[in-house]
Amino acid sequence: MDDNLKNNLRKNMLIIRKNMPKQNACNFSKKIMDTIIGLPQFINCKNIMLYISFNNEVDTYKLATWCLNNNKTVIAPYCIKSNHKIVPFIINNLTTDLTKSTFGIMEPKYDILMNANIENIDLIIVPGVVFDEDCNRIGFGAGYYDRFLSMKTKNTITIGIAYDYQIIDKVPTDEYDVPLNFIITEKRIISLK
Ligand SMILES: Nc1ncnc2c1ncn2[C@@H]1O[C@H](COP(=O)(O)OP(=O)(O)OP(=O)(O)O)[C@@H](O)[C@H]1O
Ligand SMILES: [Mg+2]
Repeated sequence: MDDNLKNNLRKNMLIIRKNMPKQNACNFSKKIMDTIIGLPQFINCKNIMLYISFNNEVDTYKLATWCLNNNKTVIAPYCIKSNHKIVPFIINNLTTDLTKSTFGIMEPKYDILMNANIENIDLIIVPGVVFDEDCNRIGFGAGYYDRFLSMKTKNTITIGIAYDYQIIDKVPTDEYDVPLNFIITEKRIISLK
């Protein structure tokens, strides 16, 4: 695969997202959250894994709070830098169970929390930088999510969330890229065909 193409798409989209007005990020994130909590596939799930949003990423705090208040188990990723692996941890509190990583991203306090078993995760909210209508994604480029999603069971539902401008005609893919079941933006729901 042409890594340069992926890298350029990622780099350009990150600049666009960085410069997006905060008010749009906030309004669109709220719409995306409302769509998720109304989705039958979400309503039926108990164990929800979600990324902890950073900067102008689609906000996941409101969704995490909603889950904690509505009897869902919230699971957050801990990223191991040395091997680019994700370990899922169960979090009960968005303030006391999270701490700032070296990159400034909030992550679970792995030393006081319980591991989640990947087989028990019903649904994963996946971050990303660029997506297409075939549910392909480009992430931050280290393969954390590609490695993690390759280990999930077939029944685990994956939902990418993004602002609508992050959807392009075609995302270049490699054999290790894992397509998602759904992509949700403030304007539409895209399902894997
Ligand atoms: N399942 C895997 N096993 C081993 N290496 C992998 C696997 N998945 C991805 N990689 C490696 O990760 C690197 C980055 O992949 P890619 O450019 O697709 O990242 P990405 O999808 O943007 O990142 P992420 O998955 O963290 O969001 C690739 O060079 C690839 O070799
Ligand atoms: Mg990938």
